[in-house]
Amino acid sequence: MVNIVEIKNLTKFYEKGTVKALNGIDLTIEQGEFVAITGPSGSGKSTLLNMIGALDRADGGKVIVDGHDLLSEKDLSSFRSQTMGFVFQLHNLLPFLSSLENVELPTYELKISSVERRNRALDLLKSVGLDDRSGFSPTKLSGGERQRVAVARALVNNPSIILADEPTGSLDSRASDEVLKLLVDLHERENVTLIIVTHDLNVANLAERQIEVLDGKVIDLKNS
Ligand SMILES: Nc1ncnc2c1ncn2[C@@H]1O[C@H](COP(=O)(O)OP(=O)(O)O)[C@@H](O)[C@H]1O
Ligand SMILES: [Mg+2]
Repeated sequence: MVNIVEIKNLTKFYEKGTVKALNGIDLTIEQGEFVAITGPSGSGKSTLLNMIGALDRADGGKVIVDGHDLLSEKDLSSFRSQTMGFVFQLHNLLPFLSSLENVELPTYELKISSVERRNRALDLLKSVGLDDRSGFSPTKLSGGERQRVAVARALVNNPSIILADEPTGSLDSRASDEVLKLLVDLHERENVTLIIVTHDLNVANLAERQIEVLDGKVIDLKNS
């Protein structure tokens, strides 16, 4: 088994060290695992996800993701765009672009043709059931539809890891089920590593493994 995430004694402090958001995390995740991260508000879940996704740098310890040492990696943005797909609680789509253009956006980090760009984005919008909305601004879509566009955007560069931070946190139960199904299907079909932060135990129970973050440390809960 290949470890796609290897974290050792990871620390991340804010406010000149007075806020110890991550306080010595040890965590290993295998390629293709589906892991749910739970824990109370403020315990460090988003900070941990941001470290794995190279959205921010750690203060100490070791973070190796897909073979890259993130504390010394020079080009974090190119690493991110080639390895990671992000889905946030709020979709973070750009309102002045169409849904199709939003999905295409991450592909500008890759050297691919405009035809390839468009085809990939269209295929993904189709796979989330929104090809008939490709020209719409996200402001004209429902919350669930927006989040499905956000999932399509997360997948457009064929990531090996999907990081989802409360992806269903602002959706009703039907939209939430649809978005989850997309993520879980993808994980099952393409063996993508799926890491979801959630406070919803129904979501967490779908995962193969649950870990809890408490006061900046990790506790393994269920490992099936
Ligand atoms: N940019 C920041 N500046 C200062 N403190 C922060 C920042 N981001 C998070 N924190 C603090 O770090 C701790 C962990 O936050 P976070 O990872 O967002 O928790 P969670 O996602 O589990 O709710 C909290 O005490 C939070 O207030
Ligand atoms: Mg959070």
